[in-house]
Amino acid sequence: MKSLKIGNLCASMPVVQGGMGVGVSLAGLASAVANQGGVGVISSAGLGAIYNNYSKDYRAASIWGLKEELRKAREATRGIIGVNVMVAMSNFADMVRTAIAEKADIIFSGAGLPLNLPSFLTEGARTKLAPIVSSARAAKVLCQKWFSEYSYVPDAIVVEGPK
Ligand SMILES: Cc1cc2nc3c(=O)[nH]c(=O)nc-3n(C[C@H](O)[C@H](O)[C@H](O)COP(=O)(O)O)c2cc1C
Repeated sequence: MKSLKIGNLCASMPVVQGGMGVGVSLAGLASAVANQGGVGVISSAGLGAIYNNYSKDYRAASIWGLKEELRKAREATRGIIGVNVMVAMSNFADMVRTAIAEKADIIFSGAGLPLNLPSFLTEGARTKLAPIVSSARAAKVLCQKWFSEYSYVPDAIVVEGPK
């Protein structure tokens, strides 16, 4: 199979594992996929509930949890590790900021249009941004917005639909 290239990332196995919350795709699954040459994805959904022993504050526990899952994944693989962040989540911004600060290779973001995703990129950040869309129209609206506001276009686009 042909490898999948996203900027400087190269997945020898052209498979992107879907982010699955709550607690389904964490470091274990993501690193296993990455070790096979695919793109492993940690779901950031509900981490505050999983890591509630760290803090009863959901937001703080979620940030801690995502850092922990990325650390565990990095210990288990040198492959590509992404983070799935749903736009509909109340702590969307926290999870995006944490994924970028912790140098996740790529963020996949759907369940809404992530129109402001590039605004979270910091100087020198290498995290790739991949919106999940369900139509060409959504992709067009998003690309126009990103380009006009941030001079940025998606590093990859995930297209999901019934067909
Ligand atoms: C148990 C489960 C949890 C999921 N959780 C998320 C999620 O948190 N965020 C998301 O963007 N998609 C989520 N999805 C969607 C998957 O990432 C994937 O995009 C979807 O299942 C389509 O792929 P498939 O046709 O191979 O199942 C979830 C899917 C499953 C089965």
